[in-house]
Amino acid sequence: ETGRVVVVGSANADLVLQVHHRPAPGETVLAGTSTTTPGGKGANQAVAAARMGGRATFVGCVGRDGHARLLQSSMHEAGVDLAGVAVVDAPTGHAVIVITPDGENSIIVTPGANSSLDADAVDRSAARWTGDDVVVAQLEIPMETVTRAARRAAQVGARFVLNAAPAAAVAPEVLALCDPLVVNEDEAGVIVAHAGVDLGANLEGIKATAAALTALGARSAVVTLGPEGALVASAAGVEHIPAPRVRAVDTTGAGDGFVGALAARLSRGDSLSDAARVAAAFASAAVTRLGAQSAYVEESALEAVLSERTAATSG
Ligand code: RIB
Ligand code: NA
Repeated sequence: ETGRVVVVGSANADLVLQVHHRPAPGETVLAGTSTTTPGGKGANQAVAAARMGGRATFVGCVGRDGHARLLQSSMHEAGVDLAGVAVVDAPTGHAVIVITPDGENSIIVTPGANSSLDADAVDRSAARWTGDDVVVAQLEIPMETVTRAARRAAQVGARFVLNAAPAAAVAPEVLALCDPLVVNEDEAGVIVAHAGVDLGANLEGIKATAAALTALGARSAVVTLGPEGALVASAAGVEHIPAPRVRAVDTTGAGDGFVGALAARLSRGDSLSDAARVAAAFASAAVTRLGAQSAYVEESALEAVLSERTAATSG
């Protein structure tokens, strides 16, 4: 029996602004377009997992507003089970995202309802978790909620995946339950620096950083490298997983797409390396389109999107 992918996390409405350049202090710039799209690291990961064939469930909080309906319908359409979503007396979380022509973004999140996701909500959901499930969390919700999710996953023998984003130090107890911990280079740096480890910024340094995450206690770790793919660190060593080359339009939610796709493949029995290879391809496809959830393709369309984009960039 394939387990479920239970995502305990945030849901945000993303106000996406495309600009020529980021405003400097005191500067005003005009945005070319502005759109509101469904986002939030947790909701993004749940939608990505569902698109990649995972039996996804989302545990989170939204407000009583239009943004909540935007998020619920996006997740519902993707096939995410919303039984664990609570409606609370706070505005749905939202994010202001500035995108420059190189596809890079800057994001400010106001958590709103996400701050109401407490450990009790985890306990209610965990009553139905089994050892086949993969439980996924990120850091846009209270840390005690993340800790409870890690503990309850361990109690039932479910695999626990932590995406430590936005960057923050992770308690040793939680780190020891991560299989894997998924971080980008900056987030990895925060965790190892907090533990007093100083490493360089070249590829050897990044490999050492990945190895340091497992040395610090994570059962396994994945460091995502954007266009360079990812490093998978386990007891067996550090392996580089390349990503297909694409032209970046908007990198928003690419990391979340990686995490959701990874969790879906792990829930279907893939090894961590195999899952990371598919996740890197899924994230590459996601950067070729605007938005987070709106940029995630179905598993069946993945190959076609990647070959089309690769042809477009090489031609
Ligand atoms: O990782 C991208 C996401 O970060 C956006 O969707 C935004 O809502 C913030 O949570
Ligand atoms: Na995108």
